Amino acid sequence: MLRRLHPDQPGSFAFTPANHAWAEAQITKYPEGRQASAIIPLLWRAQEQEGWLTRAAIEHVAGMLDMAYIRALEVATFYFMFQLQPVGSVAHIQICGTTSCMICGAEDLIAVCREKIAPKPFQVSADGKFSWEEVECLGACTNAPMAQIGKDYYEDLTAEGFAALLDDMAAGKVPVPGPQNGRFSSEPLGGATVLKDYSGEGQNGSVALATRIGDTLKRIDGTEVPLVTPWQRQPAPAEVSRATIKAKEPKPAAQTPVDETGVSKQEATAKSKAKPEARAKGADDAAPDASIGVKPEMLSAAKGAADDLKRIKGVGPKLEGLLNSLGVFHFWQVASWGTEEVAWVDENLEGFRGRVSRDDWVAQAKILAEGGETEFSKRQ
Ligand code: FES
Repeated sequence: MLRRLHPDQPGSFAFTPANHAWAEAQITKYPEGRQASAIIPLLWRAQEQEGWLTRAAIEHVAGMLDMAYIRALEVATFYFMFQLQPVGSVAHIQICGTTSCMICGAEDLIAVCREKIAPKPFQVSADGKFSWEEVECLGACTNAPMAQIGKDYYEDLTAEGFAALLDDMAAGKVPVPGPQNGRFSSEPLGGATVLKDYSGEGQNGSVALATRIGDTLKRIDGTEVPLVTPWQRQPAPAEVSRATIKAKEPKPAAQTPVDETGVSKQEATAKSKAKPEARAKGADDAAPDASIGVKPEMLSAAKGAADDLKRIKGVGPKLEGLLNSLGVFHFWQVASWGTEEVAWVDENLEGFRGRVSRDDWVAQAKILAEGGETEFSKRQ
């Protein structure tokens, strides 16, 4: 498909202050000289902010990443996740029209789109809420026919069921994504014959997460969980400007060639300046920085029977032992940690840094401390 920029473009683009801080934090994920790696998350954030990806937004992102505009345009025009024209305010529907879906009824779904949304792809519906297009295989062929709507897949669709989904979405509801015919995931229609131990779980992992996060259709608007940068072990720099980051981490000249090992001169310089012990053991094993975060209140011993911390996703026997050695024995301890405490523990889990944030231990521990079960603990 030919993907071109829309003829009507706004004159300018700027991230909101919160999105700008988030974007700056994303850039710090990557080593000096590799900032271009942040292009997809930044373009996505721009699209979430504006509803579609404008030329001004693409150029703005390219500027932030010191990329040639054409490089950013190449990315934006390559991926179907980026909408290069205004789309429906509630959802842009992407119907898979490839072999499995076509055989199983994709044309019926497209007929529903033509009838309920607009006669042609990329036309916005009369109420402004929806638009649609046909896309190539989205990789859910065993659950055909399917559509990507918002950030999730709606699978095992029928024309009638799909029409009802659109009505629900137009009414402000967020239908549960995933298979729409009662399947758990992609097991045989008659039920699984092996690996049956999922029985009893309400939803598969993707659907459960989408439901828990609740952003299936909703665009990112800044009301999400606090923006954090776990790889920096500290909250996102809400007021940090690009200039500040540059001052902290002087940027070498652009276009420095990469050597034959794939390591840029910038990276080589950074490595040579790292602490000797960090170079020897790897950054994750470098000595903890005592100035990061606030140490949570620790126990000298468990109060009664210690909780099985391995019921927290991401905690194995070794990590449980490490937590116990730090003075963490109970779910309620983990559940009480705030951002600063998480930052401290993340920093002090030698060999496992960043795990608390990565797997959101606090949210899991809150459920477990109250006697509930998480999707992970149910499988224990
Ligand atoms: S053919 Fe539709 S998801 Fe693969």
